[in-house]
Order: sequence, then structure tokens, then C-alpha cells
Amino acid sequence: MELSRPAKITIRQWWLASVRAHDKAALANGVPLYLTLPGQHGLDIKLLIDEGVIRTTEAGPIVAADASRIVAIESNMMACGLLRKKIPGLSVRQENISGMLSWNFPDVFPDSKNKKQFRAAVVNLDFNQSLKMHPDGTIPVLNAIDKIARIHEGDINRPPIDWTLCLTLNADLICTPQQRGEQAAFIADQVFDCPDLMLWVETHLRDQLDELEQKPEVLDSWDKAIVQRLLMVLVPLRIIQLACARGWRVNCQYVAGYGEHPQETPMVTFVINFEWNDTGRVTPAQTSKTCREQLPAAMCRVLGDGSVEHLPASGTLW
Ligand SMILES: C[S@@+](CC[C@H](N)C(=O)[O-])C[C@H]1O[C@@H](n2cnc3c(N)ncnc32)[C@H](O)[C@@H]1O
Repeated sequence: MELSRPAKITIRQWWLASVRAHDKAALANGVPLYLTLPGQHGLDIKLLIDEGVIRTTEAGPIVAADASRIVAIESNMMACGLLRKKIPGLSVRQENISGMLSWNFPDVFPDSKNKKQFRAAVVNLDFNQSLKMHPDGTIPVLNAIDKIARIHEGDINRPPIDWTLCLTLNADLICTPQQRGEQAAFIADQVFDCPDLMLWVETHLRDQLDELEQKPEVLDSWDKAIVQRLLMVLVPLRIIQLACARGWRVNCQYVAGYGEHPQETPMVTFVINFEWNDTGRVTPAQTSKTCREQLPAAMCRVLGDGSVEHLPASGTLW
């Protein structure tokens, strides 16, 4: 059932398009093409093989030159074993990326070997977990993204390289009641100078931000679709904030909710392009505004049959 979910098939096509878009530049830059948490089936990697992006020998295994373009990190031991059998030639690292990236410690970086792996042109964090905030306000997943962005910035020996983040999360926000209110206030603060984004929030979240700020416990009684819409605004805004401050221009290509059937877990998924802002003429604040203004064009939901419905700023409520 899980394997053939049409919505996920659509989302894998988005990932495939991103990988194709980076293929030549990744070779030229000498960086891995695709970093993924593949799961036991590795369906995203299989798609790259089926589409000829990653080549296999006649006998079946991935050709050695292409195997080194894929970084497969999987924390689950059983899944690693199954995956190695299913995709011969694939090098699977049985590790947890939270440890590899020390994501609870903002200033601790991986060693140079691991840094090279995280400099992949497309980084796909297809999590089966919720957005969790620590009591001190830090969000480990966002810490990880900040760190991965800093690794792509390079250093004195390596220039910055453009990359794409694919991120998937359960539509759930785990934090204290006070933090819930703070997230609502953060969104309100970030949308006021972007009329289309403000309209999107007014249309699709209506009075819910005010409600969340005043009575944070309402989140527990909200329909999951509301939490999806909240995260579809909150997560990209947080990523735009952290990335622009570091010198990136962020183009959100897809910001989507999916998992509409009662037996499915409601999810949110994002495809976000990071381009190094090397003009030096625009300030991070101006860049952030441009990135936020582009956000409504990316908002959509993937329906149960795999079709994509754009969610315009002034549309009907989903
Ligand atoms: C949703 S599955 C990936 C599916 C795959 N991307 C696809 O297209 O079929 C997520 C996988 O990530 C693994 N995972 C989750 N958190 C992880 C972490 N912090 N480090 C490494 N693997 C993780 C899980 O064990 C699971 O197998």
C-alpha cells in the first residue's frame, strides 16, 4: 500500500526533476549528486536507476562511478540489510544523521569526510517524524538544514555550490504551549510586508493564527489539514530566515500537503532551491522579502490520486 501511494509517486517525480537539474553541475563540481534517507525499499534511488540517471551494469549492480554519486544514510539496521540486497552496488551507511550532523549542537560540524557527503547537490530528508522544538527554542531539523547550508557555502578551498533541499515531515508540531504562540507571532511578523503571502495566510489560516497565539492548546483540537497549512507557512519562512542571513537566495519550488485519506498520516513536503547570493548588491533583508513574496506560487496539495492542486492566495479553503 505504502509503496504505491500515488501522492508519493508524484513527489518522487519532483525529486527526480531536481536531481536531473543538478546532474551536470554536480559532476563538474565533484560533489555527490544525491543524499537520501532511502528506507528499506529505496524507491527514490530505484527511480533514478529506472530513469537512467544512475547506471547499472548488465549483471545488475550500480556502476562504480555512479555508486559514489549517491549517499544513502539509513538509521534502521533491518532496512539497511534489505536495501543492500535490493540495490546491489549501493553503499548504504547505517547511521543516524542527527549524530552525523550533531544537530543538537549548532557549532559542532562533521569531519571533512562526512562534510564531503553532505555537500551533495540534492539533499533529500524524507523523514517520518514531526517538527520538534526543544524547550530552549531550537529546532533540531532546522539546525541540521542550517548546518548543511553552511557546508554548501564551502570554505577557503571550496566555492559555494547551489543545491536543493527536499524535506518531508509528519504534519505535527511538537513544542510547548508558549512556543506555539511564538510561532504564530513569527508568521504574522514575516507576512506583513508581502501582500500575497498575507492574503494566502488570511485565506488558508483565517483566524487560526490569532487563536493559536491567544489559546495555544487549540492546536490539539485542530483538524490535521489546518496543522498542515500552518507548517506549509512556518517551515519555509524559518528556512528563508536562516538561509538568507547566511547569504543564500531561496526559491521554494514546491510547498505541499498530502496524505488526505483517513488511513494515511497527513504530511508536508518541500522542494527548496538554494542559490548563492553572490551579487553583493542586495541585502539579506531584501533577499528574504523576495523569497517570501515567491512563496504563494509554490503552495499546493497532492491529492490521493497523485494530481496536484495549486492553492492560490485567494482561493477557496481546502
Ligand atoms: C520515509 S522513509 C524514506 C523513503 C524513501 N525516501 C522513498 O522515496 O521511498 C524514511 C527513512 O528514513 C529513515 N530515517 C529517519 N530518520 C533518520 C535519521 N535521523 N537518520 C537516518 N535515517 C533516518 C527511516 O528509518 C526510514 O527508513
